Amino acid sequence: MTTQENITSVLVENRIFVPHKNFIEQANLKKEEYERLLLKANTDFEGFWAELAERNVHWFKKWDKVLEWKEPFSKWFIGGKTNVSYNCLDRHLKDKANKTALIWVGENDEKRTITYQELFNEVCKFSNVLLNLGIKDGDRVVIYMPLIPEAVVAMLACTRIGAVHSIVFGGFSQEAILDRVNDAKAKMVITADGGYRRGQAVPLKLNVDNALEKCSSVEKVIVVQRIKNKIDLKSGRDYWYHELINNASLENKACELDSEHPLFILYTSGTTGKPKGILHTTGGYLTWVTQTTKWVFDIKDKDTYWCTADVGWITGHSYVVYGPLSCGATTLLYEGAPNHPDWGRFWKIVEENKVSIFYTAPTAIRAFMKAGSEWVKKYDLSSLRLLGSVGEPINPEAWMWYHKNIGQERCPIVDTWWQTETGGILVSPLPGITTTKPGSATVPLPGIFASVVDENGNSVPSDQGGYMVIKKPWPSMLRTIYGNDERYVQTYWSRTKSAYFTGDGAHKDKDDFFWMLGRVDDVIKVSGHLLSTMEVESALVSHSSVAEAAVVGYPDEIKGEALCAFVVLKQSASDHQSTLSDELKQHVAKQIGPVAKPDQVRFTEVLPKTRSGKIMRRLLRDIASGKQTVGDTTTLEDMSVLEKLRVQDEE
Ligand code: WT7
Repeated sequence: MTTQENITSVLVENRIFVPHKNFIEQANLKKEEYERLLLKANTDFEGFWAELAERNVHWFKKWDKVLEWKEPFSKWFIGGKTNVSYNCLDRHLKDKANKTALIWVGENDEKRTITYQELFNEVCKFSNVLLNLGIKDGDRVVIYMPLIPEAVVAMLACTRIGAVHSIVFGGFSQEAILDRVNDAKAKMVITADGGYRRGQAVPLKLNVDNALEKCSSVEKVIVVQRIKNKIDLKSGRDYWYHELINNASLENKACELDSEHPLFILYTSGTTGKPKGILHTTGGYLTWVTQTTKWVFDIKDKDTYWCTADVGWITGHSYVVYGPLSCGATTLLYEGAPNHPDWGRFWKIVEENKVSIFYTAPTAIRAFMKAGSEWVKKYDLSSLRLLGSVGEPINPEAWMWYHKNIGQERCPIVDTWWQTETGGILVSPLPGITTTKPGSATVPLPGIFASVVDENGNSVPSDQGGYMVIKKPWPSMLRTIYGNDERYVQTYWSRTKSAYFTGDGAHKDKDDFFWMLGRVDDVIKVSGHLLSTMEVESALVSHSSVAEAAVVGYPDEIKGEALCAFVVLKQSASDHQSTLSDELKQHVAKQIGPVAKPDQVRFTEVLPKTRSGKIMRRLLRDIASGKQTVGDTTTLEDMSVLEKLRVQDEE
């Protein structure tokens, strides 16, 4: 957004949900303690963070200094020594050796349960494998795997010896591997012979082979046998995981690493521009993911926790692996697709494993809405006690559907706002404290100083849109863009004065609740009004025939920009598309106002998305304005979507 105007916020949501008494009584974080923490964060910022670091992390050596802040570069718990693998494994062995750490469900219904003791043993052995193959602390290791327990073993083994992992999502192509291996000059790739995706075999090892033809830094490749397809092992470079691990020693002591030791690099999904290698470090990251797992997910010893993300995303790092394991919890991994073999799959997994905490993305929720609630009704979901949402603004209709059908009006919903860059959740309801409003991520967590500002960095009054910024550093913040401090400063610290620029638009309501408006690049200007595409989408989805919608602007002589809505209909919707088109336009006009009325409504079966489920509006903008698609499409999940949308264009 380059203009001076504020974003016009038009979404009005009046429903509120107060936490149930039963939940409040048993919550990890209660109101009194919450208020003490808020006060402490305000009056003794460093003391507040020291308390959290002390409480959540085992330190081999305590830090000398809590924070060094040379804007925009931060260091946390300086001089402290710790280890992420130690915190996720060793420290639980005394009380929880036989507790299940991982439940793994394969796409074809296989199941494995792995205790803390077993996971510890495997990680120790694999750490020795890495050391024996010449991996040293600070070396970069690329992990390109399906969602199988060995991926978790590989992550934890890297952190144990101080190697820096960079996970490339197993659904990405060889170009993505190539870029990321070269950007980080990785020394090793850990992969599998293949993986399954929607019932199809994906040739992971072949992709690695192809990528490595153009990479010179990789010396060794370790291959997990997953689908038993035929692959080539290059002698002197490639090794079978199972052979190496069978010969490895069990003895491995976790390295005592500096708090600021690099932990991992993760490239952002990149709806725009070249992917950025987000660098996270050890002590601060671990402190915050552990603390937020306890606060936001209210995790307890008896819980079975399932976050549906892949380890290829930040959600998988922070809230499938590190947060839950650091808390000593049972975390579930599901390898496959939500609709394999049918749309009941997730609910079957919930029933069979008595999942109590469930965390997923709005795009998945909308897909379930579209498939129909009859899939949900077949299963017993009474084990669930808390639901979470992450990844994009959840439109109130999807929130209500989630609340009614999955939460059965019993479970609090935590709508968690955060980013790859923030490492952990920054804005979210606390399930035993916060009154929720469908569609709002509510308020920042204690210690997080978020604000909504204008172009000049001044706070905007309530109910006015602006840029969402974070005004003080926090321990799990990215330290830089790997190898590119300048781009770090440019991207996050130059748009608004003295604050971290999130790139999101937001407004605060009169109760100081945050309403995210999506990326500011998704803001469009129609007849002088800046509108959030997300709000128009939300209005469309509130119509009973609409499953999903994406709205983009295209140039218009009179209005500046006009609105084009790409709409996916529910299966149950009638197919009178021409009358429905007018009806939808009127519906939006009624919900939001005539200014937001789409000029065009185009019906489609699917929307182009990144593999993490974000709609690629850039591509839709090109289509709406009749341009040939230009620029990077490597993160697009299904290329044929573009062709389908274009064909429709020509019709
Ligand atoms: C962007 C970050 C954080 C893990 C997954 C995505 C959007 C994320 C919410 C939410 C509204 C949200 C923002 C943010 N986003 N969660 N609860 N409400 N918007 O990580 O790929 O780095 O994307 O996702 O636009 O900036 P990511």
